[in-house]
Amino acid sequence: MSDEKLSNLLQENRTFEPPADLAAQANVRAEDYERATADPEAFWAEAAQKLHWGTPFTQVLDWSDPPFAKWFADGKLNVAYNCVDRHVLTGNGDKVAFHFVGEPGDTRTITYAELKDEVCQAANALVDLGVKTGDRVAIYMPMILETVVAMLACARLGAPHTVVFGGFSSDALASRIDDCGAEIVITADGGYRRGKPSALKPAVDEALGKVSGVRNVLVVRRTGEDVDWTEGRDVWWDDVVAGASPEHTPQDFDAEHPLYVMYTSGTTGKPKGILHTSGGYLVQSAYTFWATFDHKPEDVYWCTADVGWVTGHSYAVYGPTAMGATQVLYEGTPDSPHKGRWWEIIAEHKVTIFYTAPTAIRTFMKWGREIPDEYDLSSLRILGSVGEPINPEAYVWYREVIGGGRTPVVDTWWQTETGAHMITPLPGVTAAKPGSAMVAFPGISADVVDDRGQSVADGEGGLLVITKPWPGMLRTIWGDDERFKDTYWSRFAEQGYYFAGDGAKKDDDGHIWVLGRVDDVMNVSGHRLSTTEIESALVSHPKVAEAAVVGATDDTTGQAVCAFVILREEAGDGGVDIVEDLRTHVAKEIGAIAKPRQVMIVPELPKTRSGKIMRRLLRDVAENRQVGDVTTLADSSVMDLIQQGMSGTK
Ligand code: WTA
Repeated sequence: MSDEKLSNLLQENRTFEPPADLAAQANVRAEDYERATADPEAFWAEAAQKLHWGTPFTQVLDWSDPPFAKWFADGKLNVAYNCVDRHVLTGNGDKVAFHFVGEPGDTRTITYAELKDEVCQAANALVDLGVKTGDRVAIYMPMILETVVAMLACARLGAPHTVVFGGFSSDALASRIDDCGAEIVITADGGYRRGKPSALKPAVDEALGKVSGVRNVLVVRRTGEDVDWTEGRDVWWDDVVAGASPEHTPQDFDAEHPLYVMYTSGTTGKPKGILHTSGGYLVQSAYTFWATFDHKPEDVYWCTADVGWVTGHSYAVYGPTAMGATQVLYEGTPDSPHKGRWWEIIAEHKVTIFYTAPTAIRTFMKWGREIPDEYDLSSLRILGSVGEPINPEAYVWYREVIGGGRTPVVDTWWQTETGAHMITPLPGVTAAKPGSAMVAFPGISADVVDDRGQSVADGEGGLLVITKPWPGMLRTIWGDDERFKDTYWSRFAEQGYYFAGDGAKKDDDGHIWVLGRVDDVMNVSGHRLSTTEIESALVSHPKVAEAAVVGATDDTTGQAVCAFVILREEAGDGGVDIVEDLRTHVAKEIGAIAKPRQVMIVPELPKTRSGKIMRRLLRDVAENRQVGDVTTLADSSVMDLIQQGMSGTK
């Protein structure tokens, strides 16, 4: 494409119509929006028919005790039965469930019939380890098939899992195990990342030195590296799962039975355990998967998200398996062993639907289009984006270079808390604008409001809210109903709106553009990080007196962590390695994803008279801008001191 044409495409008012053939055969049509708006509950009741209910529900929504919702409350179902058994029973047992691709190049293709057997074996093994309905199981795994099997085995038993991202530290793992009271941990010796084994078991051992209550650790052998072993506690997966019976009769659970707890960063230091339950969550994740990606039985779908995040839960495990999809599951990083690895996988498996994050797209843009251009990507028909706002330039590059200019791009806005897609174009319906999540999904009511909760006019900005309950919504924060009410429902209590924590604008056509967080949550490479959590990690270092963290704009990662640190008197200048020491310290406390891009040692922090740190000013510094209005500072000379002190820091 010529430069002139490309710059043409970069104009924000450009729209991309759905391809005519796709629109003609689309799963969801324009009239579905009208139907859903007229009666959202009837719409979701119909969507729920995509699942098998052991006991059909008679009531759709119980909102008698807001904000505690119950969906399909008198219905019963088994989530794992829906995700595996029923496909086998309806003659699709030979259909491929997953094409697994290990980073070193090993592959394994597993059919739904095989997946069912493994899920049953794992469920039986967990029962033998004493797991009962309602018990919590922590999962700390690489991206391998056993992770999916473990999650579905827990679901089958009604034992809520909490999957902890394998990149998190032992401290982060320990606090999650402790908070949800997990009794079993499922892990692996390690996984492959960036061309070498990356151990996981040592972090589990370390975590279990800090918390009590874990009876057993079930260990998958993946890398074959040596691991420390605690007799009586540690059990090899191969020893107990492979020999277990592949027969297991699933029990139906109430629709509101807890399915999983997923921890996510909030505005305070302590991560929140977001609770999702069975029926409503599975309905919305399955239905949106089918609708947003226009999924057809012959599609090959690949979501690159790690199962340690909500995207991996809803769109690599529950939604797609509930719909009987064939998926790719890839263990490693996009540049291992070469920078064309993802495109090679798409070409090899003829992937038709591809779902990834803007940060990945921007990285590929940086690497250059020559790399994807070497591969045959003509199988692709729909592309998805998730995790952060996608800038129009990345959107257009994605559509043109990866999608060959044919594929609609669906920019899906949702959150750990919402469970599934909330605002997104639909590929057969929407004339999509690059950078806009467009309109609420059918049956979802979203709005942009001002501070007082009044809907803003088209062309104006404000706060993003959800105005009616939805099936996949979080039910509470694990063990903390008050925090649940306070965090999401207190801001617009009068109107009864869910406050998402994001700023957004409506354009002149009323389409929604999500602008990013308005609270102290950062979004780094699509991962949610709390400024407070990183500040606490920094302050736990013996040389640090005080710390302030801001998210600064970054070309690749969206935002980057920038830390301003005041050292303790006795630490002097901290020594030559202080910046690196502090970065490593944060990685150890939270995980490598939280490692600050920059640490600036400063003599003071800008504070208001009431002692609140003015992060806005620090953001100006971190983004190399002229510092804004300093008149509300207790001491307005502080910013000069910071800027002088910064010369020479990295
Ligand atoms: C951001 C990930 C703009 C947003 C599914 C939200 C987005 C947070 C988009 C949730 C998008 C996610 N456009 N922003 N398409 N998708 N976000 O819980 O700030 O990890 O509040 O869920 O990511 O992140 P979470």
